[in-house]
Amino acid sequence: MTNATKLSAAIRRIAPSRTNAMTDHAIALRAAGRDIISLSVGEPDFPTPDHVKAAAKAALDANETRYTAVAGTAALREAAALHFHRDLGIATPPAQVIASAGGKQAIFHALMVTLDPGDEVLIPAPWWVSYPEIARFAGATVVPMHTDAAGGFRITPEQLEAAIGTRTRWLMLNSPGNPTGAVYSAADLAALANVLRRHPHVLVLSDDIYAPLRYTPGDHATMAVVAPDLAGADETGRVLTVSGVSKSHAMTGFRIGVATGPTWLIAAMSKLQSHNSGNPCSIAQAAAVAAFNGPQAFLLDWRDRFRARRDRVVAAINAIPGLSTPVPDGAFYCMIDATPLMGRFGDDEALVMHLLDHGVAVVAASAFGGRDGFRISFAADETKLDTAIARIAGAFA
Ligand SMILES: Cc1ncc(COP(=O)(O)O)c(C=O)c1O
Repeated sequence: MTNATKLSAAIRRIAPSRTNAMTDHAIALRAAGRDIISLSVGEPDFPTPDHVKAAAKAALDANETRYTAVAGTAALREAAALHFHRDLGIATPPAQVIASAGGKQAIFHALMVTLDPGDEVLIPAPWWVSYPEIARFAGATVVPMHTDAAGGFRITPEQLEAAIGTRTRWLMLNSPGNPTGAVYSAADLAALANVLRRHPHVLVLSDDIYAPLRYTPGDHATMAVVAPDLAGADETGRVLTVSGVSKSHAMTGFRIGVATGPTWLIAAMSKLQSHNSGNPCSIAQAAAVAAFNGPQAFLLDWRDRFRARRDRVVAAINAIPGLSTPVPDGAFYCMIDATPLMGRFGDDEALVMHLLDHGVAVVAASAFGGRDGFRISFAADETKLDTAIARIAGAFA
């Protein structure tokens, strides 16, 4: 028996995260003495706010070092309910909130407790790398819904109607989106909701983890608010909204994500979590309470700084012959088209390896279900961004 055959069919169906793989690669090259700027990772470069760090230290000093309730402490579920209401407009009781080890774990659990082999998951592409792999791990089939820059990287109601079948279980929505920065308006979501009303067997996962990072005017739009009839607490409820502190509050290492949805789904996710990680880290939960309950004004300042970086990066990239990118409306990524350069490289994986040789780590579009391009994160300081873009221009000169 080879080692590969000792592994489950489920794990053999999935690929490792290519964003994490590129980040690890860049770390290894740096450790070997190479000068590599990594624009592959999706995390703010700002330090975690002091009041959040103080709450973590206080929790440690107060011996909050034991198991907590599986779905999170009462304090965190209340703080998350406040966050869902204040920041996303979703009125939800703490009982319908679960805290997990990152938004990633909440999404993993939601898919694992609802999917059976043969079920289908509709995922707009380019997508966040983990959606298709989690769906496949659960035995489901991924149905990609292609989007492009011309359409704002958003799916249309017609596309949704055509993609839904009898085995469709989930529609994954991510706004603002990773890797494209796409933002769905309330009108966009209302049009999708009209389609979903005709198909009561389809659940909606609204991944709003980048909600504070919107660069367009107007309120954040989310399915639970636009279509409250789909988002009930009871058996008819079929919207799960995922949020967190990782991206908004520069707390990626704390591993806290939160989700709210119908009682039946939150209970099932909690049941699985009880046998998986159990509760999320007690210290990190205390820190997340401080993040949700503490000052929020600095988020506007951070957003403005990200917007300035976005504008700087978009202008610089569009000035490089062979590269083009639309202006992302949210999050901190640019999906860059490099079609004119493909004759030279063959595929986008070869192109990103070429960029790595020139000292910049980025992730190929194909890792996200896209093609002929690459994603950069502009969550890096201006000096690094300028140097990285100069290297990219040099690599293609
Ligand atoms: C779209 C999207 N959803 C969820 C997550 C997961 O975030 P967390 O670090 O809280 O697990 C990420 C992180 O990269 C993301 O980009």
